[in-house]
Amino acid sequence: MEIKQVGVVGCGLMGHGIVQVAAQAGRSVVALETEQAFLDKGLGRIRKSLTKLAERSVAKKGVPEAEAKAQADAAFARIQGTTNEADLADCDLVIEAILENLDAKKALFEKLGGLCKPETIFASNTSSFPIGEMAAASGRPAHFIGLHFFNPVQLMRLVEVVRTDDTDPEVVAAGRAFGEAVGKSPVTCKDTPGFIVNRLLVPYMSQAFLMLERGDASKEDIDTAMQLGTGYPMGPITLTDYVGLDTTLSILEGWVDRFPDEPAFVIPELLRQKVSEGKLGRKTGEGFYRWDGDKKVG
Ligand code: 3HC
Repeated sequence: MEIKQVGVVGCGLMGHGIVQVAAQAGRSVVALETEQAFLDKGLGRIRKSLTKLAERSVAKKGVPEAEAKAQADAAFARIQGTTNEADLADCDLVIEAILENLDAKKALFEKLGGLCKPETIFASNTSSFPIGEMAAASGRPAHFIGLHFFNPVQLMRLVEVVRTDDTDPEVVAAGRAFGEAVGKSPVTCKDTPGFIVNRLLVPYMSQAFLMLERGDASKEDIDTAMQLGTGYPMGPITLTDYVGLDTTLSILEGWVDRFPDEPAFVIPELLRQKVSEGKLGRKTGEGFYRWDGDKKVG
């Protein structure tokens, strides 16, 4: 199950990063978007990130400038952007990274099941939806895994490889090998809500908002406490801004809906309120903090 050609559906926040790391690892990548404008935006982000990483390897690792630039150019050249689903037909692995909408994901996989060669492995980068439901929709559950990357994909070193009861162990092994090939440490997990990271992380974020709602501490002090007290690179409130308040809310809403008796899944009112005000975090320039691009400014 050698993975030479990779398809990525969705070139947004997560998708563009997955396209990039696969191309950097020498794979040829088909990046699919619904509209040319979305594709151009995703490819633009990849260009910018490759340039940034090339500059860093010159400055920090002493790589000659011409070599770093040539590597970035070669990675970019391995990416074929498309708006035509049929271009995914011969891919060895297709990773879905579209919006978090289970019906849309199931419809996509149903279509891909009829389109891709029989050996193609399907993977979803979903944060929290059941892999098994998408696997069933694809018509090839043995060839289906979760491949859950972390934001920003270019820098975060983990990938969760999620297996269902139907996944062929060789497909799990191929998913892990792909994760290693793109420079990540794979961990394997059953098809459970939030897998490993989000099952722990999202309730932790919720608790931070509840603390804020109760007035236990300021957002700055909650963040500083978790950064300095536990060594996390970002505190929970900053991290929610970074990931997206809408993404966090949608994960929680899905869980509360499906697991109403699970006490760890609670939706803080403050989170709902910010989302209803359109304050979604870094992506809109304001969440709990204000942002200028990737930098927190207040
Ligand atoms: N591509 C290339 N370079 C990038 C980049 C990207 N996408 N993003 C940041 N960089 C560069 C920066 O430009 C900077 O370069 P410089 O050193 O030359 O100035 C360098 O990386 C370091 O970035 P920063 O100075 O902004 O600061 P940090 O050292 O704090 O690193 C971080 C940034 C890696 C994002 C770090 O803060 C971090 O690890 N934060 C936590 C992120 C996290 O927890 N992610 C998981 C979220 S949960 C998730 O994704 C699951 C989902 O399902 C919800």
